[in-house]
Amino acid sequence: MAGRIPQNFIDDLIAQTDIVDVIDSRVKLKKQGKDHRASCPFHNGNNKSSFSVSTEKQFYHCFNCGASGNVLTFIMEYDGVEFVDAIDILAEQLSIEVPREENNNATSSPTQTIDRKDLYQIMADITHFYQQQLRQHINSEKVINYLKGRGLSGKTAQHFKIGYAPDGWDEVRKRFATSPEQEKKLIDIGMLISKSTEGAGSYDRFRDRLMFPIYDRRGRVVGFGGRVFDNSEPKYLNSPETPLFHKGKELYGLYHVKQAYKDIPRILVVEGYMDVVALAQFGVDYAVASLGTATTADHIHTLFRHSSEIICCFDGDKAGRTAAWRALENALPYLQDGRTLRFMFLEEGEDPDSFIQKKGKQHFETLVKEALPFSDFLFQHLLTQVDMSNRDSKAKLAQLAIPLISQMSESVFKEMMEERLITLLGIEKSALIKLMPKASTLSAPKQSKKVTPMRLAISLVLQHPNIAYDLPLFPEFKEIKLPGLSLLDQLLDICRTAPHINTGQLLEYWRDKPESRQLKQLAVWNNQVDEGKYEDVFLDILENFLTLHIDQKIEQLKMKSRKGETLTSTEILQLATLLAR
Ligand code: UTP
Ligand code: MN
Repeated sequence: MAGRIPQNFIDDLIAQTDIVDVIDSRVKLKKQGKDHRASCPFHNGNNKSSFSVSTEKQFYHCFNCGASGNVLTFIMEYDGVEFVDAIDILAEQLSIEVPREENNNATSSPTQTIDRKDLYQIMADITHFYQQQLRQHINSEKVINYLKGRGLSGKTAQHFKIGYAPDGWDEVRKRFATSPEQEKKLIDIGMLISKSTEGAGSYDRFRDRLMFPIYDRRGRVVGFGGRVFDNSEPKYLNSPETPLFHKGKELYGLYHVKQAYKDIPRILVVEGYMDVVALAQFGVDYAVASLGTATTADHIHTLFRHSSEIICCFDGDKAGRTAAWRALENALPYLQDGRTLRFMFLEEGEDPDSFIQKKGKQHFETLVKEALPFSDFLFQHLLTQVDMSNRDSKAKLAQLAIPLISQMSESVFKEMMEERLITLLGIEKSALIKLMPKASTLSAPKQSKKVTPMRLAISLVLQHPNIAYDLPLFPEFKEIKLPGLSLLDQLLDICRTAPHINTGQLLEYWRDKPESRQLKQLAVWNNQVDEGKYEDVFLDILENFLTLHIDQKIEQLKMKSRKGETLTSTEILQLATLLAR
């Protein structure tokens, strides 16, 4: 099994990349002074330049929402991938192999040593195997008849790589679990279930089911959904959460939509696998499904990154309305000018699959065009909950609507919602403003930080790491009791040996450590030190720390002698030298 990725490789990788290029290929940047600016991709705001990328620091930061990090953080956040994937993506761009440390330490944590490439390969191989079984297995006729019965063509099945998991307890196991290590991997990725008694082996999770591979955004199979052929339960069995598969994050079909369009004009969110597949077959090739969960905030966030128009399609029944309302609540913080969210409801008993099979593409797309704007759905829904004929219910409407509207970021859109509420309530705008909570405390910039020498010193090294190169060692730092000093000392240790290290690289050493958040803040903190004075200010502070050390030591020795303890001759000498300094 492959080991960890060496820290110095990660360090070099960041050094060889320009964060500006990487971000610019995803979010158009504009040069402004020394930095590059854009509107922040991680929150909605109207500020076109709150998001700043520094070439010098190799670090990005949004002054409004506080999102910040180096190039790896950006890829993780923006592409929605894990740390190791972000490294893969960067390395791939530079056409270099990602090395792994020799793993001699048998006790090291298994999650650190999983070779994900290998796991993806196994998923791809199993996908292929299921596809073969669809045509070759003795049950093939039953499966193909089922597909035909549901109106799916061979071409559609091919396109989505739909397959068949054969009936049996060890069809996957006997082919793929060729060694205990392989078996463990198959259990880890959810394809085998280990028997409850230790060492009793394992068996296939998916048996006699129609298999829908679930792709991640990079087109790798990360999980499966398997449907039964009859009425037994559960109708769909999905892969469990695994190192590759996170249900709340993935959207079935998104990869295919991305393949079909360069710029995706709109995305339709539906409930089921079959809906996505049937719609695509009829030419509605822009549908995705959340995987048996509600539409989460994560989903909405991802969807708006891919398209500016999202249409959520639900059944017209009560469950469908409830699910739509939940999606609306999750979407509020992501709404801003230029983004559209609409809702469409089908007649009871219909889903997109059954509808399009009966009525065809044109009819279906007419409904898509007529989908309810989000604001209409919001007020419609609220008005079903209050009886507008008496005064009390107006107060109730305000109570329900205000917390929702105030989650939206400042926009023309939000103002229109407020206008509408004012009209419904029959009050003045000033009265509404009094009712609204104060401008979101969430996005308030947290700039005011008390200046302490320690904060100042740490921010200076982070922002100008070269001031610490060539610095002598300060063994005293290990003895001084001062909050933050050991952190500063670690920073100095790294910078002393690295002539051109940048902020982004430096911060990488603290990824996932508790201090990371504070360091990121200090890396962009405006410490008010003039350019050209960095080094002087920094050295002054260090000198102060050393003086402090002397004072602490003198105090310690004096205290000892005051308590009547005799000082050793070395200590007397030390005290004399210290006092002399
Ligand atoms: P539905 O029951 O509406 O299924 O569940 P469907 O897509 O219309 O399926 P068909 O047409 O009967 O084949 C919608 C979605 O909820 C999840 C699946 O993702 C499914 O596509 N689900 C449903 C499960 O995960 N498990 C279940 O047992 C049922
Ligand atoms: Mn259905």
